[in-house]
Amino acid sequence: MAKKKSIGTQDIIRDSINHIPLRITDTTLRDAHQSLWATRMRTADIMKIIDVVDNVGYYSLEVWGGATFDVCLRFLREDPWERLRQIKSRAKKTPLQMLLRGQNILGYKNYPDDVVERFIALAIENGVDIFRIFDALNDTRNLEVAIKCVKKYGGHAQGTISYTVSPVHTVDKYVAIAQEQIAMGIDSLCIKDMAGILSPIAAERLVSALVRETKIPIQVHSHATSGMASATYVESVRAGAGAIDCAISPMAGFSSQPPVETMLAIFSETHYHANLDQEALRKVCKFFLELIPTRQLSAHVADNIIDPEVLLHHIPGGMISNLRGQLAQQGALDKIDQVFEELPKVRADLGYPPLVTPTSQIIGIQAVMNVISGDRYSLVSQEVKDYAKGLYGRSPAPMDKAVIKKILGTEKPISGRPADLLQPMLPDATEGVDPKLIKKEEDIISYCLFPEVAMDYFKWRALPPEQRSPIPADVELKKQMDSKNPPSAPAQTATPFLAQSDYNSISQLVDKVSALNFSQITIQHGGSTISINASGVTTGPLVSAPVAAAAAPVPASTTAPAPTAAPKAAAPAAAPAGPSVNAPLNGTFYRSPGPGKPEFCQEGDEMAEGATVCIVEAMKLFNPIKAPYRCKIVKLLIPHGTPVKKDEPMISIQKL
Ligand code: CO
Repeated sequence: MAKKKSIGTQDIIRDSINHIPLRITDTTLRDAHQSLWATRMRTADIMKIIDVVDNVGYYSLEVWGGATFDVCLRFLREDPWERLRQIKSRAKKTPLQMLLRGQNILGYKNYPDDVVERFIALAIENGVDIFRIFDALNDTRNLEVAIKCVKKYGGHAQGTISYTVSPVHTVDKYVAIAQEQIAMGIDSLCIKDMAGILSPIAAERLVSALVRETKIPIQVHSHATSGMASATYVESVRAGAGAIDCAISPMAGFSSQPPVETMLAIFSETHYHANLDQEALRKVCKFFLELIPTRQLSAHVADNIIDPEVLLHHIPGGMISNLRGQLAQQGALDKIDQVFEELPKVRADLGYPPLVTPTSQIIGIQAVMNVISGDRYSLVSQEVKDYAKGLYGRSPAPMDKAVIKKILGTEKPISGRPADLLQPMLPDATEGVDPKLIKKEEDIISYCLFPEVAMDYFKWRALPPEQRSPIPADVELKKQMDSKNPPSAPAQTATPFLAQSDYNSISQLVDKVSALNFSQITIQHGGSTISINASGVTTGPLVSAPVAAAAAPVPASTTAPAPTAAPKAAAPAAAPAGPSVNAPLNGTFYRSPGPGKPEFCQEGDEMAEGATVCIVEAMKLFNPIKAPYRCKIVKLLIPHGTPVKKDEPMISIQKL
């Protein structure tokens, strides 16, 4: 009897007859550090290695996307356009690729067509060759203008299936989505498995169906989160996908892409050839390995290499690290399991949207709010309202009627393409902005997409270098370094009792203090004192009082119920005499909806019950805060743009 050959052997035999090129996109400079480093890679890091990366032989380099853009401005104090230009000036051989959120561009909502068009034109001018264009809801109406513009300005338009698992997401549905995009003129199609939940068998079925029903070149993008991605790539390529997304090994695995080195080794025994330069890969690998300690923030990294839970909660990689960071900001990292439990319920309520930006934020943060407030949908961001209204597009399945009623009240959802409701934005986009702050057209686009963040950056940039505040990412990094190497000097100087970086412990202490109903706890240690009250920590002057810990019971809170959260003991220093509107969660307090827009209220104004009095931005979403009853605004307690802690009084009011 003839010896049975393994499949691998058959492929090697076929190899001598038939070479099939395998295209590999490197995601190291975008998705990988978004998934593992909360997008904290610097342009300077990239420029140190870009020549080597360009010589690897990749099909394309994914270098740009929404989080990259946002984090550049917000945390790195860099101009994302400048990053793109710098990369382009050196990466001469490999096409540059970006991830475009269709009509959302790089943001979290739909933008008018004029902004989409100028953004794409400028992105091409500055160096983007390939646009992977996706819509979180797979609503093709949100891709139409972006695809048309990419073609118009000479780019490669890659359409996208945002992959998810739900009762309504069948292979036939995905093929239909692909066909709609092909009719719009896409050059290739990506199956975007942002959460790493595409199983090898499902991939084989989906790719086979797409190959059978369409002629479009197929690329597969997955995340290693659940441990399936490498096998998924093998099955996808065998079924006819011509391209896969990988990252260099130190930037791979966990919630990032599968490692390129591993995939090369696997495919080396087949007739699919990527032809990458192994020596160059080794150099790139060494470079990023050495960079990890100064770029990876421990708060953003998952504990487990493999997270089987993702198969239940379906949260994409970038979102997991963000969710951790955001829960840490809320002092609620211990609630992450509850959030993971709540998330699939919220998703079902809202018609099974795939979880990818912006729906991942919308659904994820609604789950966070449902858990933190303890009352489902009592706290609802503007974004969730807009979603329920249909302003993001069609939900894949009908939404839960009772939940919609709770979110929308008497308002009615829209029909038609959401962006049709939007007026052109560019003509007066920078009205009221100091013209000295805007240097080029790209700045106007940055400002349209991220008004507050871009304005902050422009103002910072306009200052002489010696007057600029420290770069936020440097501050984070220093905190992390300090907490790893706590100063060993005795506490005879003004060294803080608690490491400044230890915000998590501090938040937990604050929660405990408020739960115990003490107004304040003062801890004295080694010549330093620290006072903790319900609104935060104030390090007192150095005293030599022998008191180790003094706690004073707090009188019954005089603060009226906040519109959206149960009151806790408020900080005595900040507490107003009468009732107040308190922050429902940690975030940033805004008196108006945006720069140049009128404030929601002024001192002395009379507000109707339910009228918006301010906004608390938390976790990148804007939460309108309502008047709890008909009231008079007595005092705006904190300035516009100030960080607030959960339950901190923001506006003192008087009931009418
Ligand atoms: Co991804």
